Amino acid sequence: MELLEVIKKRRSIRKYKKEAPSDELIKKCIEAACYAPSSRNSQPWKFLIVKDREKILALSKTQPYSAFLANAPVVIVALAEEEKSPRHWVEDLSCAIMLLMLRATDLGLATCWNAVYSPENKEREDYVRKVLKISTKYRVLANIALGYPDEKPSEKKIKSFEEVTRI
Ligand SMILES: Cc1cc2nc3c(=O)[nH]c(=O)nc-3n(C[C@H](O)[C@H](O)[C@H](O)COP(=O)(O)O)c2cc1C
Repeated sequence: MELLEVIKKRRSIRKYKKEAPSDELIKKCIEAACYAPSSRNSQPWKFLIVKDREKILALSKTQPYSAFLANAPVVIVALAEEEKSPRHWVEDLSCAIMLLMLRATDLGLATCWNAVYSPENKEREDYVRKVLKISTKYRVLANIALGYPDEKPSEKKIKSFEEVTRI
């Protein structure tokens, strides 16, 4: 697919078919994420691939808007080793997740970001760390649902060029 086509096609999908994407497809998504830019090329990311139903159900209770994760056959938990990029791990990891989501779209898969990190609420990160036994050296930015789409999103209205720019 042409890049702009992929960009426009990517939407947050919260209902998925039962069939899980193959390990090969999951790997392709993560490999794309690893090409993201990062502060000082720190590449602080780590991706946990969660397929276990019990664990996914536990992740679907991370915060009030996590329930849709229970519909996903796979959840990718996006972590950053904070020490490797203390000031910019959020941006680094966000860039990587964006590439992961675009690659997934390109491969016919769908994704949805589920926020874990919150500057005001460390409990959500602690919760995910506890569910997946993650070391405190890692920050938890997001749970990303991954699977074959089973819903059609409504048309997306984007802001106009004039609204978002000043020349
Ligand atoms: C940082 C971030 C956090 C998000 N957190 C959630 C979330 O917790 N739950 C959820 O259902 N969607 C979440 N989303 C998805 C947004 O709701 C979605 O991207 C937005 O409505 C635009 O729709 P689109 O992705 O289909 O273009 C999040 C997206 C981003 C970028």
